[in-house]
Amino acid sequence: MNKFRLKPEIYYGSNAIEYIRTLKGKKACIVTDKFMVDLGFIDKITNILDDKGVTYRIFSDVEADPSRETVLVGLQHIIEQKPDTLIAIGGGSPIDAAKAIMYFCIKTKEKLVEPDMIKKPWFVAIPTTSGTGSEVTSYAVITDKKENIKIPLAEDYMLPDVAILDYELTRTMPPSVTADTGMDVLTHAMEAYVSKEASYFTDIYAERAIETVFRYLNRAYEDGNDMEARAKMHDASCMAGIAFCNASLGINHSLAHALGGTFPLPHGRCNAMLLPYVIRFNAGLKGREITNPEVAKKYQNIARLLGLPSDSLLEGVLSISEGIKIMNKRFNIPNSIKEFGIDKDEFMKHVDDMAKAASQDMCTSGNPVKATFEDFKKIYMEAYE
Ligand SMILES: [Fe+2]
Repeated sequence: MNKFRLKPEIYYGSNAIEYIRTLKGKKACIVTDKFMVDLGFIDKITNILDDKGVTYRIFSDVEADPSRETVLVGLQHIIEQKPDTLIAIGGGSPIDAAKAIMYFCIKTKEKLVEPDMIKKPWFVAIPTTSGTGSEVTSYAVITDKKENIKIPLAEDYMLPDVAILDYELTRTMPPSVTADTGMDVLTHAMEAYVSKEASYFTDIYAERAIETVFRYLNRAYEDGNDMEARAKMHDASCMAGIAFCNASLGINHSLAHALGGTFPLPHGRCNAMLLPYVIRFNAGLKGREITNPEVAKKYQNIARLLGLPSDSLLEGVLSISEGIKIMNKRFNIPNSIKEFGIDKDEFMKHVDDMAKAASQDMCTSGNPVKATFEDFKKIYMEAYE
């Protein structure tokens, strides 16, 4: 038996944030970061809540890579206020923090009352970057800052009830963030497309997301006010999220998590740099020979979809991996770990630990090809130069 989950409800397009007017609740908690408050994005929500006579609290202390401590402070707000509606607005971090707050809230209630007595707040997620797809997934990652480890959380009840894709909120993203998050979308879609769990259903979303990134990311990067490109990228981010939430991610994310956890580098930027190396590994490219033809066929399909040279498996794999390198260059994203400015000795000091962490990452099991510790180390070494 197979499963493809279609949730949450999605409201999209210009002024989709007006959905807030239709909320039925009377007490809301808004989870966000200082940046959203400074930009005045919160006002778009609170003005509507004021009109409706809905009371609200704003928890705006979420930092990048939210910590467990921050989540527990947010939980305290929820316990005191008892909101019927939880609204998360921001990039991946506020949405992840809200999911984690929901996680700890339900876990706490489970200890105190019968499961059918637990009432979950109506959860609305409003992404303001086009990258994580967090608005349609039931995962979150929080950080234990003392131990310097990432804690992945996954429960169905962390999935938002509603996702609002209002592309007007992405207009202020600077070009580098547009590129990094856009390449993260591409990585999500490509990993979902070749994943062991991929299906016809997930392929549809992954293919459309990949096509959209190739067609519109450059436009959004060159001109942040190109709202057609912004809208397409915002939708593609969500589609890639639907694809990978139902299929899975793979070792590209495992490698990026460990690299970004060791050196302070943006997540999407790590993914983009690693992607050509992972494609070659997954296709089993040895010299000019393809040793994993089934996986290579999927990359060939993508190359064909994009109108890139794809007459043979080799041509398909090479054109897609080289195409990504060209995109990276255009977006000023390094094509090697060295280009990030990481010293070789420093890199060598950490490579074994990174390879170990990557091999234990939750994304590794979804990869179409089994990767050993030695494989992870080899990919890192190749990616260094
Ligand atoms: Fe990602």
